Amino acid sequence: MPAVTQPFVTDIAELRRRAKENIERGPVTDNYEGQVQQAIDLLQTALATEVVCVLRYTMHAVAAVGIDSESVKAEFEEHANDEREHLEKIADRINQLGGVPNLNPVGLHTRSATEYGSAEKLIDMIKENLVAERIACEHYRELVRYFADKDPTTRVMLEGILAQEEDHANDMHDLLVAHEGRPFLKS
Ligand SMILES: [Fe+2]
Ligand SMILES: [Fe+2]
Repeated sequence: MPAVTQPFVTDIAELRRRAKENIERGPVTDNYEGQVQQAIDLLQTALATEVVCVLRYTMHAVAAVGIDSESVKAEFEEHANDEREHLEKIADRINQLGGVPNLNPVGLHTRSATEYGSAEKLIDMIKENLVAERIACEHYRELVRYFADKDPTTRVMLEGILAQEEDHANDMHDLLVAHEGRPFLKS
């Protein structure tokens, strides 16, 4: 019986041989098709973005005042916790790729895609968070497309985060409608 060829799969002996080379690179093997340093740099931006989002939501959860502010505070707090989970996932991935997560507060605001903001009124806080979530959605969509099948693990992680950012944006939009009675963000 003729041997069955497996055109897309490397044979086991070759896989075993390659895995023993460059073991200091951890999970990054020869067929990692992304550029490792570029991947790490992109993830550092996402990491800084998440840190700024944790800080902004945490500040808003503490500082929000006004009618119905308790339920809004709870929502801000929940989002702050989600953003912290995103931060940790991204930091872990940077570490797996051989980088050091950059959590240095110096330059944080410049590295982040989103802004810390300066809102004092509840409605302005909601708007700032909605804008930040929309930035995050766009940023993560771009990153998902960048990583594509070059680095499926990073892509899948980012897709999960993106889905949550979309949910966050929707939550902020709902709050905006509830407090302003208008469906769309004013420019
Ligand atoms: Fe996030
Ligand atoms: Fe978010």
